Formats: sequence, C-alpha cells, structure tokens
Amino acid sequence: MHTHSEGQEQDTENVIGIIGTGDLGSSVGMSLAKLGYQIVYGSRDPSSKRVKQVVRMTGHGARATSYKDAAQQGDIVFLAVPWPAMEQIARTLGDLTGKILADGSFPFRQATDGYMESMVETSSAELIQNWNPHAIVLKWSLPGSNWIDEPSTEEEGGRIAVWIAGNDRAPKEKLARLTDRMGLEPFDAGPLRLSRELDAQAILYMVPFVQGRKETWELIVRRSDFFASQMSDSDEPWFRPVYDAGNLAEFPGDASA
Ligand SMILES: NC(=O)c1ccc[n+]([C@@H]2O[C@H](COP(=O)([O-])OP(=O)(O)OC[C@H]3O[C@@H](n4cnc5c(N)ncnc54)[C@H](OP(=O)(O)O)[C@@H]3O)[C@@H](O)[C@H]2O)c1
Repeated sequence: MHTHSEGQEQDTENVIGIIGTGDLGSSVGMSLAKLGYQIVYGSRDPSSKRVKQVVRMTGHGARATSYKDAAQQGDIVFLAVPWPAMEQIARTLGDLTGKILADGSFPFRQATDGYMESMVETSSAELIQNWNPHAIVLKWSLPGSNWIDEPSTEEEGGRIAVWIAGNDRAPKEKLARLTDRMGLEPFDAGPLRLSRELDAQAILYMVPFVQGRKETWELIVRRSDFFASQMSDSDEPWFRPVYDAGNLAEFPGDASA
C-alpha cells in the first residue's frame, strides 16, 4: 500500500480487488478500470458466463478469480456482496494486513411494515473490522450504484456524495482521492463507528422506493463555511472539538487540502 506522502500519481498503479460481481461490484469495477486501475473481481464462480461477461464489459485487463485470491491481489478491496452472505465471505479472505477494505454493503432487510430495518446491532463495517482485525476497514457509503455508472456533475445539480467513515487518516484520504476520480463527492463521515449512521441513512434513502414513489432524493452535500464562522465568533462553544481536530483528513476540494 502506498502512503499519503508518496503522492497521488502512484495511486493509479494500484490493483483493486472487488468482492462480488453484481450491481455495485461491476459498477465500481467498470468505473475504476476506465481510470486505469487493474480490476480483479472475486466471485463464487469466476468462470461462469455471467462473470465472464462482467469481465469483458470491464475490459482494461480485468480478470476474475476466487474471493480470497481477489482480496489478496488488491491493494484496495471493495466488498460488494449481500449482507446475509458477508460474514462467511469476509471471514475467509485471508491475511489482509494493511489493506484498505472498503465496505459498500448495507445490512438492512424489509420489516413487516415494508420499510427497511437494520439486521445488525452496530454496523456492517464494524463487524467486518472485527472479523478482519488487521485490515483497514472503511465505510464507503453510496446508496445508488447508478451514480457510479453516470456521475452527476456540478452543472447537473451537484456531485453525489459518498460518505467515508474510518479511523485512519491516510487510507481515508486515499479512498477519497479514488472516489473523487470516479466523479463522486467524498465526504469525511468521521470514525468507523459513525458508519452506523450511514447504514441508517441508507434505510431512509430507501423510503421513497418502498413507498412506490416515482421520485427519489439524492445525497448531495453542499460545502458551507457558515457554522465555522459562527463557531469562531462564539465565546462559549456548545461542543468541544474531536480528539483529532488538529490532524483531520484532507479530501479533494477541501479549503485546506
Ligand atoms: N445495487 C446498488 O445500487 C447498491 C448500492 C449501494 C450498496 N449496495 C450494497 O452492495 C451489496 C451488493 O449489492 P448488489 O446490488 O451489487 O447485489 P447483487 O447485484 O445481487 O450482487 C451481489 C453479488 O454478490 C455475490 N454474492 C455472494 N453471495 C451471494 C448470495 N448468497 N446471493 C447473491 N449474491 C451473492 C455475487 O457475486 P458472485 O456470483 O460473482 O460471487 C453477486 O453478484 C449489498 O450489500 C447492497 O446493500 C448496493
């Protein structure tokens, strides 16, 4: 894995492992392949007709192999399998020491009232971290893969936000740069434990779908310095800064980046 100080250019040499070849996995793979990354898909059945088709459509030297092999080859590994299958898969990826494991899954199911409910007490990403203590697990939260296929631009109303939660600054910045290159807006969502809120956000995102509405509401976040200027003028701030306030991750587009 490259470190922050090695710079942006060398990130493009990375091999990306993608666990799961469905809707989300293939969208991530195709987007990153176009940017020049080496894509290695992990699949239950890498030689199936369907997976071969995904590999062909991804192009740019993409290949498919087993889940474990793909995870071992990737510097960054995206997890894009349904939650009920996740534990068995995430526990058998081998030694992932130092690798970024980007969790794109959402652990929800439909409750009896038709709305989504969480299937876990904490979050998908925290559980995946428990199962892989030596990996650097980051939440990569984007509820709709269609925005990877066709990113929305500033001219079209704004880039769609991908909320990235994680405990380590440099890997988070690396994943943010990758996200930015995909045409999406990386947003620093704090430490990994806040991925619970991102899982909950995805449950809210699904509301218009399960209501059968013809419109959805996209997650576009706007930069603003309003609160920062209010806070600096205040004699009595109503919260204390986070423990790492002096060492925050810098994402593309940040005023300080
Ligand atoms: N679709 C989206 O827009 C979207 C957006 C954000 C997040 N997500 C999340 O991403 C994860 C994957 O969603 P998806 O929409 O990509 O699902 P999907 O189209 O059904 O694909 C999931 C892939 O996971 C693998 N898999 C392993 N065990 C499986 C099992 N028991 N049943 C089905 N597939 C299994 C399969 O790949 P192989 O056959 O190659 O092993 C399959 O192609 C979910 O947790 C979902 O919440 C999806």
